[in-house]
Amino acid sequence: MASHAEKLKMAPKQQKAQCDWQELERRFFLKTFNRFPVVLVRGQGTQVWDDRGKQYLDLVGGWAANSLGHCHPVVVEALEQQAEALVHTSNQFYTIPQIELAQLLAENSCLDRVFFCNSGAKANEGAAKLARRYGKLRLNGAYEIITAHNSFHGRTLAMTAATGQSKFHEPYAPLPQGFINVEFNSVEAMKEATTANTCAVMLEPIQGESGVSVPDETYLQRVQDWCHEKGILFILDEIQTGIGRTGTLFAYQQHDVEPDIMTLAKGLASGVPIGAFLAKEHASVFGIGDHGSTFGGNPLACAVACATFRHIIDNDVAGQARRVGEYFFARLRDLQEQFEFVAEVRGKGLLIALEFTSDIAQEIAMACLESGLLVNRVKPNALRFMPPLIITEHEVDKAITILQRTLSEKATAILTKRVTSRP
Ligand SMILES: Cc1ncc(COP(=O)(O)O)c(C=O)c1O
Repeated sequence: MASHAEKLKMAPKQQKAQCDWQELERRFFLKTFNRFPVVLVRGQGTQVWDDRGKQYLDLVGGWAANSLGHCHPVVVEALEQQAEALVHTSNQFYTIPQIELAQLLAENSCLDRVFFCNSGAKANEGAAKLARRYGKLRLNGAYEIITAHNSFHGRTLAMTAATGQSKFHEPYAPLPQGFINVEFNSVEAMKEATTANTCAVMLEPIQGESGVSVPDETYLQRVQDWCHEKGILFILDEIQTGIGRTGTLFAYQQHDVEPDIMTLAKGLASGVPIGAFLAKEHASVFGIGDHGSTFGGNPLACAVACATFRHIIDNDVAGQARRVGEYFFARLRDLQEQFEFVAEVRGKGLLIALEFTSDIAQEIAMACLESGLLVNRVKPNALRFMPPLIITEHEVDKAITILQRTLSEKATAILTKRVTSRP
């Protein structure tokens, strides 16, 4: 009988014979995703395969969720073991994986208590509700949360309002009240927006979705000091930056700050859906019935998160992400030296962007895809790299070779065409 791995390898050919997946997607889905023309069917480490058997090096990493890469043995084993024991029960009962995970997170961060949910947006929603509850109980009913321009906090209605980008606001107006967006990287703007109605500030340590914007070294510290001075909560959205992504377990550890509330999701269970928000004791003001979730803390997801988190700590995966990230960064800087249309390299650890002087990111991403490299077009003029944290320098070299060739062939051609086609 064919093994599980053999069956997976066989599947693509059988599926291809039966279906045009892209056509089915066009027929049956709401048209929200602008997908690349590739149907992925299998993954191993940093590699994925499409339904035609073509192999790719994956620098998208499930949008920064595949922290240990695809089908890591630690993840697969945890999934298998927990699936045979208990997949789901309700939060009416105690279950062991979620308690173990809560203890692991609290003992390895500056936070004390945790609430589990299923996604980044839900983690941020929970954090916002906790801040409002804090405002009601401790700050005379203050309810406003200050966030930054160009931030991204998720797609629920409230997190759409929290997200500081008008392109997300306009289609859904009117949005829930109580979110004030101010200039990123400006403590002055934060101060000006703070009123007696303010209960919290919520920031990403690095703004991932808007193109990997890294604030000044002292920004987070100065915002934290301001929050302390005003007695309001300092919330960090570490949904993208957490779990080793920027070279430390959590990004806040590089800034000498301690958030009152921190949100996590993406890399926490290496691709299995989970979210969490954590709070310091003084901010843990929820009482019985104040918040809840059917799937939050699900034993399957929590068992995988425990295994992922332990593996990351025991093997200093965050340190590896820092070292390989620095190497990747330096190699991208070499590309910047070579190509005058590369404007900037920015980021930390394995969250890096390459910005161009013009809007060529889509064409470059498509050309990379053809050459077996998956990258994210984060902005019309920028690519983002957020590979599995286990990527090696050798794999970075392979990626750089493809990027270099693509930039030299494709980008030069695109730019030449654009210049010659000008009237
Ligand atoms: C910083 C940040 N917050 C929140 C979210 C929303 O997470 P999710 O898509 O899991 O709801 C994202 C997703 O990209 C994110 O990067």
